[in-house]
Amino acid sequence: MKILVTGGTGFIGSHTVVELLETGHDVVIVDNLSNSNACVLNRIFEITGKNVEFYNIDIRNYDDMNEVFKNHVFDCCIHFAGLKAVGESVLNPILYYDNNVVGTLNLLKIMNKYNCKNIIFSSSATVYGVPEKMPITEDCKIGKGTNPYGYTKIMIEQILSDLYKSNNRWNIVLLRYFNPVGAHKSSKIGENPNGIPNNLMPYITQVAVGKRECLNIFGNDYETPDGTCVRDYIHVVDLARGHVCALKNIVENKGLNIYNLGTGNGCSVLDVVKTFEKATGIKIPYKFAPRREGDVTINYADATKAKQELGWVAENNLEDMCLDSWNWQKNNPNGYE
Ligand code: NAD
Ligand code: WQD
Repeated sequence: MKILVTGGTGFIGSHTVVELLETGHDVVIVDNLSNSNACVLNRIFEITGKNVEFYNIDIRNYDDMNEVFKNHVFDCCIHFAGLKAVGESVLNPILYYDNNVVGTLNLLKIMNKYNCKNIIFSSSATVYGVPEKMPITEDCKIGKGTNPYGYTKIMIEQILSDLYKSNNRWNIVLLRYFNPVGAHKSSKIGENPNGIPNNLMPYITQVAVGKRECLNIFGNDYETPDGTCVRDYIHVVDLARGHVCALKNIVENKGLNIYNLGTGNGCSVLDVVKTFEKATGIKIPYKFAPRREGDVTINYADATKAKQELGWVAENNLEDMCLDSWNWQKNNPNGYE
């Protein structure tokens, strides 16, 4: 199939492009490089031996997007392009609603115009807000968003559901990711945050490589076995494979479908630190700090639906995730620079 990948030079997008190429799909990437680097394209070539057509454009630009669709006939769009920093979204909500929501609306207008009606969207476990039960199944209520970023995901899910209701020739897959970490086994692509990392795993790897002194663990008085928050960390390559499975499914199982992509295992912050130390032999100095606003106590997936309907299960364990994150950081201490 010929696939448009928006945000394809980003963390999850680049890993997905590799899996798509390796399973024989043709890929065109659209990305404005606002949070990624064009070097990723060379790395993708080094891994797969394949070149990908790339457009350095913003999905909000109708004319530029129109040119892409004039030049290609797509079977499906996998839509990753979006801003994702929770704290930044609180400081600059207009930017987040414009980039994520307006950007998606523009993409949908063009897809509709060119009759490309298959879309896989990068949603997030954040849509569950404070989850009503654990593990989280897809039929759990959409929660109250905890920040503007989360609301952009809730709004886009709503837009896509309404679109499907208006015309059931659309085939839509909403993939709700849990906590993506890890990197490709080749260490050629991985997560490359700007500045101080917001997320746990890149912070740990930057402590390990000597860029930061000490990890602050946000809260040790939660109602969990060791007092630190519990999350469902998932290897980015498993997540990427989930998109290939969803793509196969979108043409067979039409309609609007929603899947959690997680391992189903809850791990605490201290579990991650200890597993990282065991996998790499590197000690991570840490100290306990106050709770971070907006953090939910426990969050992990019931991923049974993805297993049953997509034939997908996560294969990598937490040790694999830590080791691959570390190998990426060690081999690319300054990211793609
Ligand atoms: P990322 O920032 O590495 O990748 C997103 C890519 O989109 C970047 O390359 C960026 O340059 C591009 N982009 C952003 N706005 C754009 C625009 N207007 N036009 C064109 N390109 C644009 O992030 P990621 O971790 O790979 O996340 C991919 C998607 O998955 C995002 O939608 C994110 O919200 C979602 N998601 C991520 C996580 C996570 O923890 N990483 C969890 C759940 C959902
Ligand atoms: C994990 C745990 C922190 C950093 C975020 C988004 C979510 C989704 C995935 C996009 C928490 C703790 C972290 C640190 C710490 N993204 N922590 N010290 O918050 O579960 O999810 O990314 O959709 O929307 O909110 O991930 O990696 O930031 O935090 O103690 O320096 O690690 O408090 O318990 P989170 P995270």
